[in-house]
Amino acid sequence: MRQTRRLGRYHLTYRIAFGGMAELYRAFTFEDDGHKRDVAIKRLLPHFREDRSFVDMLTDEFKLVSYLRHPNIAEVYELVEVEEAILISMEYVDGRDLRSSVERARMLDTALPVDDVVYVIARSLEGLHHAHVARDSRGEPLRIVHRDFSPSNVLVGYDGVVKLCDFGIAKASHNRIQTKTGIIKGKVKYMSPEQAFGRKLDWRSDVFSAGSVLYELCSGEPPFTAPNEIDLIFAVRDAQPRPIREVAPHLPEELCAIVEKAMARSRSARFQSALEFRNALLSFLRHHNPGYRRTRLAGFMKKIFHDEIERELRAMEDFVLDVSVRGEDFGKNLIASALPKDAPFNRFSPNPTASAVASPAIASAPTQNVDTRGRKRPSRVMADPAPIDPHDPVHHEKTVIADRRLPPRPLAAPPPTIGSPTMGSPKPLGSPKPPPARMPPPRIPPPPRVPPPRIPKR
Ligand SMILES: Nc1ncnc2c1ncn2[C@@H]1O[C@H](COP(=O)(O)OP(=O)(O)O)[C@@H](O)[C@H]1O
Ligand SMILES: [Mg+2]
Repeated sequence: MRQTRRLGRYHLTYRIAFGGMAELYRAFTFEDDGHKRDVAIKRLLPHFREDRSFVDMLTDEFKLVSYLRHPNIAEVYELVEVEEAILISMEYVDGRDLRSSVERARMLDTALPVDDVVYVIARSLEGLHHAHVARDSRGEPLRIVHRDFSPSNVLVGYDGVVKLCDFGIAKASHNRIQTKTGIIKGKVKYMSPEQAFGRKLDWRSDVFSAGSVLYELCSGEPPFTAPNEIDLIFAVRDAQPRPIREVAPHLPEELCAIVEKAMARSRSARFQSALEFRNALLSFLRHHNPGYRRTRLAGFMKKIFHDEIERELRAMEDFVLDVSVRGEDFGKNLIASALPKDAPFNRFSPNPTASAVASPAIASAPTQNVDTRGRKRPSRVMADPAPIDPHDPVHHEKTVIADRRLPPRPLAAPPPTIGSPTMGSPKPLGSPKPPPARMPPPRIPPPPRVPPPRIPKR
């Protein structure tokens, strides 16, 4: 038996993920009527708490996402400072991110079926479009650009639900930390060329990134590869991937054309919105597989994660609610003033209600998940404080924040002549000074060393 850890109104169980800036826990809380609600808690790593700029970044993430209510975006509930921790609570998605799903499928010598990939990307584009056109409470456009659309930020539920998450580096007109042009943020592999140049971005940058993800998931090969990150940035800047129909000749021509349009180097040649891109994908799916249902995706997820689902279910059953901590310390909501009165967290209470306590099923029973028919539903992963595997596929593609002024690309061939199509792209733009000898260090310090994993791989 293991006890949950209480932080404000949340009861934390195991750690789901560990990133550069924060760690993710599976947790739950109680609604006013005693109903147990699963939540995901994103907690700022303790050493970043000291640094106001990181707190501001997290605050910005929450402020942005708190405006977003859409079935394809993981809903955020609150940003709170409690017991020396800063955390974001959000809707828990009972499933896996797309990166883990692809890796798991590969381990099993299979791959996500193309129709499922098309469906997942189409749904996440719906969430993305909602963010792109979102407005604040006064009706002002927020002009959000996600900037980190990548497989690890697309969550796929075991029931086939698709949710976009992690607006950690999203940029909007409201952000207090306005990212200076010239700073590159995102996962290099899925960046748009303009992002890799550190230029000003609009929605169409996210369209390109979603195109890159689609390319990789449909063909099994990433569009851009390089022996190191600097060369990868150059490859992304060039935006000349091997034609997808060459990499995966079995793919339908219409799908290849969609990928190519999304990944056009020139923004004006791309889909002009995430919605337009989504419409193209859904009409392809309707034409190609008219009977497609998301239950198929759910079936696939349950199949590939069958063993983990069982194991995780048992691990969850091991948790017992810590009822020794009582009280109403909700912590300090950092942006309460910016939120409407009916903000979702207002419905939550830190403890089970009297009626819930009277029911041993909530007060002391394992924190199992129960579906509408009373059957146990699978939850996920293993155990905090056991560390997350640092080689976990979720984390091996780090999100970088770096200066765009890169050293010139080492040229294997003679330099391009004037008029060559690649002319100009390897040079650092707008920098009259000679470029630095090395890539400047990332602005975010590296994550702390993680001891060797003791848990099964996710
Ligand atoms: N709401 C959620 N429900 C379930 N899992 C989540 C949720 N949000 C994030 N995750 C998992 O945690 C991982 C890291 O979360 P994310 O917000 O992307 O943080 P990071 O900034 O470290 O990338 C995701 O890739 C996903 O596997
Ligand atoms: Mg992420």
